[in-house]
Amino acid sequence: MGTFDVLNPDLYAAGDPVNNGLPLEQFERLRHEAPVYRQSISDPLLVDWAWAVTRYDDVVACARDHHRLISGRGVTLRHFEPTLEESGGKPSMITMDGDRHVRNRRIVSRGFSPNVIRTVRERFRDICTRTIDAAFAKGSVDFVEDVAVWLPLHAICDLMGVPDADREDVLRWTNTFSVPTDPDFAPTMEESMAAVMAICDYGVRLAEMRRADPREDAMSKVAAAFETEHLSEAELMGMTLLLAGAGNETTRNALSHGMHALMRNPEQMALLREQTDDVIDSAVEEILRWSSPLIQIRRTAAEDMEISGTRISAGDPVALFFCSANFDESVFPEPQRFDITRDPNPHVAFGTGPHVCLGAAVARLEIEVMIRELVARTSRIEQVGSIEYARDSFLRGVKRLPVRLVPA
Ligand code: HEM
Repeated sequence: MGTFDVLNPDLYAAGDPVNNGLPLEQFERLRHEAPVYRQSISDPLLVDWAWAVTRYDDVVACARDHHRLISGRGVTLRHFEPTLEESGGKPSMITMDGDRHVRNRRIVSRGFSPNVIRTVRERFRDICTRTIDAAFAKGSVDFVEDVAVWLPLHAICDLMGVPDADREDVLRWTNTFSVPTDPDFAPTMEESMAAVMAICDYGVRLAEMRRADPREDAMSKVAAAFETEHLSEAELMGMTLLLAGAGNETTRNALSHGMHALMRNPEQMALLREQTDDVIDSAVEEILRWSSPLIQIRRTAAEDMEISGTRISAGDPVALFFCSANFDESVFPEPQRFDITRDPNPHVAFGTGPHVCLGAAVARLEIEVMIRELVARTSRIEQVGSIEYARDSFLRGVKRLPVRLVPA
């Protein structure tokens, strides 16, 4: 068995675009040779090792096994985690277990339900139209900075109730704390921590604004829960941090990886341009599978246990590789083929179990509306420079994707 390094951030920064930027060959070997593998890590910002779980069935079973594999010791392998109190962060649902998790999630969950999300379609379309117009005016653009960043930012800020004037600050803070392993995002750990504190303080101010002028948005609900003392100030801060971070840093990458895959597969782009509803819906799912914006999520064993015959001790960190599960050939025929008609497509890009992504309906709608508008308003979209990936083994970031949008 050769060496593996699937938790090494450098591996993702140096990803091969031909292979979708992912170490797919290592994942395939791990699934066959060592599906629960003790992976050592040598990055100073990360813990020294973790169990890497790579098969689809194991990833799903582990994500659902929330009594024995807990989130409360962190969901990343970083020493500093912004939503973990013991490492100096603020508590949020993603790093909570049991009743506390249920209570925190329930406060905002209705604000992200498919029924609510249906009402924002026109608003999302309007944001896309303006973004694409601005990109046309520039000619060649960076798809990440000029296109993919804006809809996720405005979508989450609308749903949270963040005023327009504050949105670029929110974007700057989330960019600075979300990828501490990449110096382009977080030049120093101090700057990353300062961004965490800035958004936490902003959460308190935003809750005050929403309390004075309550609306249907998530932060109005959070402000109300704070008043009734269901929520502490630290939880209010953690909620702001999580919603803003999760809303901004994932869908942007799904859109960017998706656009890259469409440009590399012109026959799939041509099919998308026919714009039938069925194809658009399955294209959204294939973009999610292909992009797998969360590479892996960490759990911690609460007791001695076995995963697929491998003994795990209480306290061991376990990394559930969503992006390997999404390329498991026992579930997805020809997994390395980007096929926007793939059906069924039971990908786990949003995770599964009690922590399944709260923003899944928002993210799906964002991707759908953006690709519909892009293909409707362009006659051609061309890649005009190399894609650059972020240095991280948690979030699968795209830093740059130079493109030219040719108006229809
Ligand atoms: C393509 C975009 C997205 C992807 C791939 C994604 C992925 C995920 C995944 C895998 C989890 C599960 C974490 C775990 O198991 O511990 C998660 C949780 C979460 N996501 Fe997303 N997400 C996306 C977009 C969003 C958006 C737009 C929001 C905004 C509301 C959001 C909010 C959340 C929250 C609040 C949680 C924590 C849920 C909990 O712990 O109960 N996500 N996301």
